[in-house]
Amino acid sequence: MSLVKKLVRPEIQEQTSYHVPDATNLVKLDAMENPYALPETLKTELGAHLAQVALNRYPVPTYRPLKQKICQKFGVPSGFDVVLGNGSDELISMLSIVCAKPGATVVAPVPTFVMYAISAQLAGLQFVGVPLRADLSLDLPAMLAAIAQHKPALVYLANPNNPTGTWLSEDDVTQVLHAMKDIGFVVLDEAYQTFAPGTSMARLPEFSNLIVMRTASKIGLAGLRLGYMSASGEILAQVEKVRPPYNINVLTAAAAEFLLDHLPLFDAQAAQIRAQRSEMIATLSALNGVHVFPSQANFLLIRVPNSELIFNKLLENRILVKNVGKMHGLLNNCLRVTISTPQDNQLFVAALNDALK
Ligand SMILES: Cc1ncc(COP(=O)(O)O)c(C=O)c1O
Repeated sequence: MSLVKKLVRPEIQEQTSYHVPDATNLVKLDAMENPYALPETLKTELGAHLAQVALNRYPVPTYRPLKQKICQKFGVPSGFDVVLGNGSDELISMLSIVCAKPGATVVAPVPTFVMYAISAQLAGLQFVGVPLRADLSLDLPAMLAAIAQHKPALVYLANPNNPTGTWLSEDDVTQVLHAMKDIGFVVLDEAYQTFAPGTSMARLPEFSNLIVMRTASKIGLAGLRLGYMSASGEILAQVEKVRPPYNINVLTAAAAEFLLDHLPLFDAQAAQIRAQRSEMIATLSALNGVHVFPSQANFLLIRVPNSELIFNKLLENRILVKNVGKMHGLLNNCLRVTISTPQDNQLFVAALNDALK
C-alpha cells in the first residue's frame, strides 16, 4: 500500500479538489465577480501606497487598524469586533475546526454554498443538508425539525443564498436563531449583502449565538482575499485561537485599508449591477423556455430546457457561466449567471438566444 493510501484520511482521499475552469479569453460570468476595474487615478494612488509597504516584515497579527476600519465602515455594532480571514472560505474552515468535536454536526439548507459541506467534512464534522422547497425557498419546518433532531453545532444560512439568489425573510432567520438558542451557532453568510435588501449585522447584540460573515470579494475585491466575521467577544476569542497568525498578507491589509476610504465607488458599482439585474430579469423572463428565479444577489439562476447543451453552446460563443444542473436535484437544468457590465450582459443574452434556437 502506498504511503499516501496508508496515511491520508480516507474522507480526504475521496474528495476531489475544488475545480476552477480556465477563463482565458472568455466573458467570465461564472464566479459572481464585480466586472468593474478601479479607475486609473485610483490604481496609481493605490500603487504608490502599496510601494511603501514593508514586504520584509511580517504583518502585525492583530490587524487593529484594518479591523477598526471594517467595523466602522460596515455597521458592526458598537462593542463588537471582527475576525479576519483569507476570504470567507478561511473563516468557514476556522469555524469547522473550532466546532469539530467527535459527533458534531453542521446543518444548512441545500443547495447552498458548497464550502460549508466540504469544510465540515474535511474537519471530520457530519454535514446534514435540508432540501429547499421546489421553488427554492427555505423549508422552515424541515429546518426546525433538522435542528431538533441533530442539535447542530453550526447552522449556515447564506443570505442571499448561492447558487439560488434567494432572500430569507427576517422572520425565518429569527425562528432559526431562536431554535438554535441553547444548541449552537448560526452563521449568517452575507457574502452578497451589497446587492441585498437588508442585513442581520445590527442584530448581533440581540442573539449571543449569531455570527455574521461577510467578504470583500463580491463588492469588487475578490483578488484581495479578505473576509471578516463578527460575533460576541466570547465566540471570536475562540476563533482567534485557530486563525493562522499572519493569514492576511501585508499587501491585502494595506490595499483594503486604502480602498475602504473609497467605498462610495464600490457602492456606485453595486447600484449599477442591481440596475442591470432588474433589466436582465425582465429580458430573460421574456425568453421562451427560460425560467428566472428571483434573486437579491449579483447573479441569476435560470432554468433552461437542457443546461448542458446550452452551457456548451454559450462556451462556443466565448461565454462562461456555471452549469449547476448536476449539483443538486432541485437545480436540474439550471445555469448560474453573474450580472456583469451592460455589454457583457448583452453578449450573454444574444448567445443564449442563439443557443435556445
Ligand atoms: C455564500 C458565499 N459565501 C462565501 C463565499 C466565499 O467568498 P470568499 O471569496 O470571501 O472566500 C462565496 C463565494 O462564492 C459565497 O457564495
